[in-house]
Amino acid sequence: MLAAWPRRLALRPSVRLFCDKVERPPELGRRPPPAPERKGPVSWFNLAASGVLMGAGLAFYYYARGLKEEALAKERRRTLGKAAIGGRFDLVDHTGKAACSEDFHGKWVLLYFGFTHCPDICPEEMEKMAEVVDALAAKASDLGEVQPLFVTVDPRRDGVAEVAEYVKEFHPRLIGLTGTDEMIKNVCRAFRVYYSSGPADEDDDYIVDHTIILYVLNPEGGFVDYFGQTKTAAMVTDSVMMTMGKWKAEQRQTSGLLAKLTG
Ligand code: NI
Repeated sequence: MLAAWPRRLALRPSVRLFCDKVERPPELGRRPPPAPERKGPVSWFNLAASGVLMGAGLAFYYYARGLKEEALAKERRRTLGKAAIGGRFDLVDHTGKAACSEDFHGKWVLLYFGFTHCPDICPEEMEKMAEVVDALAAKASDLGEVQPLFVTVDPRRDGVAEVAEYVKEFHPRLIGLTGTDEMIKNVCRAFRVYYSSGPADEDDDYIVDHTIILYVLNPEGGFVDYFGQTKTAAMVTDSVMMTMGKWKAEQRQTSGLLAKLTG
């Protein structure tokens, strides 16, 4: 490196090695003359204030637009949810009488799909449903009557007699529903319930793989909520109670409005 130094210097003879005295230009170091203060129609204060106002206006616009979009999305979800799950059904109850969805209008319905040969999950879920029905009767009878329903997904084995035998194990008010393959297929399709029979063993015993969901229908037969297997009886009870309370408040509001409009 050091050896290279003089060579570079030699190559660039114009490099200035020490400072020559340079004449200081007279304008150096002098402050520029102060700009004349301009009092235009838009002062800094006005500009700032209108900026703040514009910002607030924009913020409000986006806030309002957000609210509107949220409301629209909610409405879309609501109608989609309504269109997607539930609907009317025609089945046969455990006394052998025809039973359709309209028969349960006016009551809150807890609806569970399963099969009577189910070894463990269905009995557990049915016990849970019975517990919820009793808890709701004790805590929220003023909010409406609750009707528990069991629908079989194994119509081949679960006839009227089998279903009748099964439901009395769980709750005195539980109604069991069965029907033809076609009827069961239709109700399961309406409620998006999956079911599929596994292979039969030598005793013609088989397992039916099925969706484990407890559905809640309002007194107009509309699907309002569902609970999976992980929800406890207490959780389901609290949630259904809230839904029933909200429904009652809405009904009161609507009938109040109707009374005002007609009265
Ligand atoms: Ni089951």
